[in-house]
Amino acid sequence: MYYGPDFGALQREDPEIAQVLLDEVDRVRGGLQLIASENFTSPAVLAALGSTLTNKYAEGYPGRRYYGGCEVVDRAERLAVRRATTLFGADHANVQPHSGASANLAAYAALLQPGDTMLAMALPHGGHLTHGSKVNFSGRWFDVVSYGVRRDTELIDYDEVRDLARRRRPKLIVCGATAYPRLIDFGIFRGIADEVGAWLMADVAHTIGLMAAGTIPSAVPYADVVTFTTHKALRGPRGGGILCTAELAAKVDRAVFPFVQGGPLMHAIAAKAVAFGEAMRPEFADYGRRVVENARTLCEALEGMRPVSGGTDTHLALIDLRALGVTGAEAERRCAAAGITLNRNAIPYDPEPPAITSGLRVGTPCVTTQGMGVEELREVGTLVSRAVRYPETADEVRERVSELVAKHQPYLSEL
Ligand SMILES: Cc1ncc(COP(=O)(O)O)c(C=O)c1O
Repeated sequence: MYYGPDFGALQREDPEIAQVLLDEVDRVRGGLQLIASENFTSPAVLAALGSTLTNKYAEGYPGRRYYGGCEVVDRAERLAVRRATTLFGADHANVQPHSGASANLAAYAALLQPGDTMLAMALPHGGHLTHGSKVNFSGRWFDVVSYGVRRDTELIDYDEVRDLARRRRPKLIVCGATAYPRLIDFGIFRGIADEVGAWLMADVAHTIGLMAAGTIPSAVPYADVVTFTTHKALRGPRGGGILCTAELAAKVDRAVFPFVQGGPLMHAIAAKAVAFGEAMRPEFADYGRRVVENARTLCEALEGMRPVSGGTDTHLALIDLRALGVTGAEAERRCAAAGITLNRNAIPYDPEPPAITSGLRVGTPCVTTQGMGVEELREVGTLVSRAVRYPETADEVRERVSELVAKHQPYLSEL
């Protein structure tokens, strides 16, 4: 007999935590969720996450575990690996990383020794903390050289990447970003890596869902190692993963376990398998297409605000607020007051400090999962714009936001 999540049991045993769960559902249903790195998983993914698989210790890999009784959970991990390799056309997949940051740590561990040189995108230009920030292990343990975007186009400066690679001879080049709205030319990165004899890693934490959907070109044919998260546009559980060539498979597996992690989260791995399965369906290709279409529409509808690089090719946009004289922090607060959740974000060459910033980052994975289309996104753009520019209209905007989300509630119907 199946034993699954029983909310009644939680309410009886721990009403305080039960109330947190209820309030969080109310929060997401009560406003617009425009955080580019979030999504709403399917009920099937949630069911796998809330399962008894959380109880199982399974250090090692299917068929090679350090604990007994793993023959059942082995099936979940084999399915997750098979689906990931099929979905992305990769030689090998490791589905055990607990998060995107753990996946990156493991990828570095597979390819580098402490003190080695790596070349990656600077955090203030859209790179991630794990790409060499001084406050992160990556910046402390490696000799990091950073590239950025051009001032005029706000696109990756491939000439700078090539120049730095030739001069500094990194052992690893990292491409991929956390706040870059445009397509990344993995072919150019591959060429530069080959020229200087470096490994190429693509951290596609943000865009893996769009690659799964076939909406944007995949990094897999170009990179030696691809790291990703499963909880952003891919719409799976919170977690990470690594795809790599057959040549690096054993190194990557050893780097994840036993180097970086202990026992894998088997409930999360089962949920990742469910999400990969969902992403293989034709509906997901349609979802990816609509996410990008919605992001473009949102960009165009943000009156008085300038999208960095002039627009987007992906699920997210970066908005320069300087012409309005409103900081990112203040705009984030004004949107929150109007029922719109998003995050402030540094823009390239930002004159403001990271805690303030001159920009906002907006994304469409959540609203698209909720069923909103271009018509709604046009209105969402107007609402964000009004909330930021005319804070005195916060109550009116909030009312309209409520009406809009009331028609597109997450978790009320089958997604
Ligand atoms: C490019 C990139 N890499 C890695 C990560 C880290 O993922 P996680 O938060 O799961 O550790 C993120 C998360 O935002 C990201 O955008």
